[in-house]
Amino acid sequence: MNYRFAMTLLIVFAFQTIATMADAVKDGRTAAQDHCSRCHVIGDYNPNGGISSTPSFQLLVNALKDYQERFDTFYARPPHPAVIIIQGIKKRDDLPYNAAPVKLTLKDVENIAAFAKTLKKK
Ligand code: HEC
Repeated sequence: MNYRFAMTLLIVFAFQTIATMADAVKDGRTAAQDHCSRCHVIGDYNPNGGISSTPSFQLLVNALKDYQERFDTFYARPPHPAVIIIQGIKKRDDLPYNAAPVKLTLKDVENIAAFAKTLKKK
């Protein structure tokens, strides 16, 4: 493989990675707005919305050092198991639903986590 070909491949892969990340953020923003804004304030989408006892995404991302882990696993953390089903993951069956359940894929979870990262203050 000559040097120029290798460099071209590298550049193509870099752009593909950036494009995939941009898609994840866009899809994550939509999923968050559709499924999380009922309780959470999310960026500038619903500054006066959410439920006041629920932390905003900005607060979670900017106040908690381990926010990424929390976004990766939020569906297992109360109160979410009572409202949110992740397709392919068994729901705890000792919790009744307290509202219309939200159904997501693990891809949605990854995308929301990618979007949440963009709310980090520079
Ligand atoms: C029914 C209301 C409700 C919905 C819908 C909801 N949340 Fe939450 N969420 C809460 C509340 C209340 C807390 C605070 C829990 C606490 O302080 O223990 C919270 C906390 C969190 C946390 C911090 C978790 C922790 O305790 O470590 C994350 C991350 C989170 N939510 C993500 C999401 C995402 C992503 C969605 C949408 C897919 C979502 N939430 C939908 C009510 C909700």
